[in-house]
Amino acid sequence: MDNNNMPIGVFDSGLGGLSAVKELMNVLPKENIVYFGDTGRVPYGNRSRDTIKKYAQQDVNFLLSHNVKVIIAACGTVSSVAKNLGELISVPFTGVVSPTAQAAAKATKNGRIGVIGTTATINSHSYKQELQNIDPQLQVFERDCPLFVPLVENGFTDPQDIIVRSVVEHYTKELIELQVDTVILGCTHYPLLTDAIAKVLGDKVTLIDSGRATALYTAKLLKEHGLQKADDSEGEYSFYVSDTPDNFETMAGMFLSKDIRHKVTQIDIEEY
Ligand code: DGL
Repeated sequence: MDNNNMPIGVFDSGLGGLSAVKELMNVLPKENIVYFGDTGRVPYGNRSRDTIKKYAQQDVNFLLSHNVKVIIAACGTVSSVAKNLGELISVPFTGVVSPTAQAAAKATKNGRIGVIGTTATINSHSYKQELQNIDPQLQVFERDCPLFVPLVENGFTDPQDIIVRSVVEHYTKELIELQVDTVILGCTHYPLLTDAIAKVLGDKVTLIDSGRATALYTAKLLKEHGLQKADDSEGEYSFYVSDTPDNFETMAGMFLSKDIRHKVTQIDIEEY
């Protein structure tokens, strides 16, 4: 296949990376996409650095076996912990931290930014470092939210749900007292909780979704490398997971507003 018609490879530990896929479908509608969600091993965010790096390498190997032309680690945890992953692979690569930090630095007016993410992401201080490299005057307040990923993976995203509301309040209320005007959703699962988070933080706080920033950066990356798809046909999408497709199909279909039933294939990631 012509290099330019090869798919974009996207991976995450589960459903979260779909927030990047959704934006890629908008920004680059002609591009083919292969998505891998490591649903058999989610969550990554409370695992050791070595385990996260090993999983990320296997995810990359799987995508490379599908001849992808670029790889997106649509996972805040992998982007924060396996920082040099891109140096080890043969195709252009991006994580989510750098494009998202750029978008947040542009959005803030009072220079006070909140970052929420998994425990591994927050402990790595990746977003804080990136933001302070952009502008050392920025004040950054970090908070890990370990219950968010299990909530999302189990379909708890409704802002009216008392469980969702209590958990979101528990983790994010202090950011209001800290007077942040911008909050980075530092884990790609969190955009599925956008309505619930926005309800607690109120409309004066801008939420920065890594999906949009990363999709726009990917468009730039394809252009820089001369890898844009050559023909005008609609993009084709395939989805792979490492556990049973059922729950993923339902949740992913709802989130992407597409019927992807029978389009999700289970694979054994330990073979890669
Ligand atoms: N969606 C991922 C992230 O952005 C992974 C979350 C997890 O598996 O803990 O961090």
